[in-house]
Amino acid sequence: MVTGPKAVVIGASGGVGAALVRLLTARGDEVLALSRASTPPVDLADEATIAAAAAAAGTDLALVIDATGFLHNGHFRPEKSWRELSTEHLAYSYLVNAVGPALLMKHFLPRLARGTRAVFATLSARVGSIEDNRAGGWYSYRASKAALNQLVRTAAVELARTNREAVCFALHPGTVATPLSAPFAKTGLEVREPDEAAALLLGVLDRVTATASGRLLDYRGEVIPF
Ligand SMILES: NC(=O)c1ccc[n+]([C@@H]2O[C@H](COP(=O)([O-])OP(=O)(O)OC[C@H]3O[C@@H](n4cnc5c(N)ncnc54)[C@H](OP(=O)(O)O)[C@@H]3O)[C@@H](O)[C@H]2O)c1
Repeated sequence: MVTGPKAVVIGASGGVGAALVRLLTARGDEVLALSRASTPPVDLADEATIAAAAAAAGTDLALVIDATGFLHNGHFRPEKSWRELSTEHLAYSYLVNAVGPALLMKHFLPRLARGTRAVFATLSARVGSIEDNRAGGWYSYRASKAALNQLVRTAAVELARTNREAVCFALHPGTVATPLSAPFAKTGLEVREPDEAAALLLGVLDRVTATASGRLLDYRGEVIPF
């Protein structure tokens, strides 16, 4: 029988999400793995699916990880110049990378355990840091992750009023060999396999405290300036 703490992974079909589910399950946590293909399904473009999945997850959650995200698909490639900006690409990136995670916070933060450390983490990206942006490009992805970071900070402030030991933060996984990064993995870049990356992320998730709430941390647990 599984007796470990209750964890939820949204985006369990993704490279990092699937690895997190594997590791959590292997160590005995009770894991609800959610994706567009799970039962119940979670589609970030449909709040009713998020509400239903949160209800299915129940309460007293120890760990909720949002491992969803969007960088490219058959229609949209990261922009190299403002000449490539389009309403559709910007709007879709905001939908998946900021609006969807905001709705996950709306429905899952009230379900975190109380009176004990409980964690909500959303996978963001270093390139969402405005301070860190020296290379330019990737307008939609950068801006939507910056919006996500602001939403996380805002929710963390509100969460602290009702659940002082809970942590709500954004987590940069580093460069991980997944479909999201595959077209952009350059030689010289430190690229980790999903299981190795997930182990590092779990290390951070296991030790963060409320002082990390509202922040963007990297896979080593170091704060990345917004
Ligand atoms: N890989 C990297 O190098 C890297 C670097 C920095 C940050 N990150 C961040 O880490 C996170 C995970 O990335 P990854 O590399 O694991 O990407 P991935 O393999 O492409 O997985 C993306 C996940 O997001 C889900 N998703 C996309 N649109 C969705 C929607 N509308 N509703 C519900 N789920 C949706 C996908 O579900 P489907 O299977 O249904 O499409 C999939 O589970 C992302 O936030 C990404 O920005 C990754």
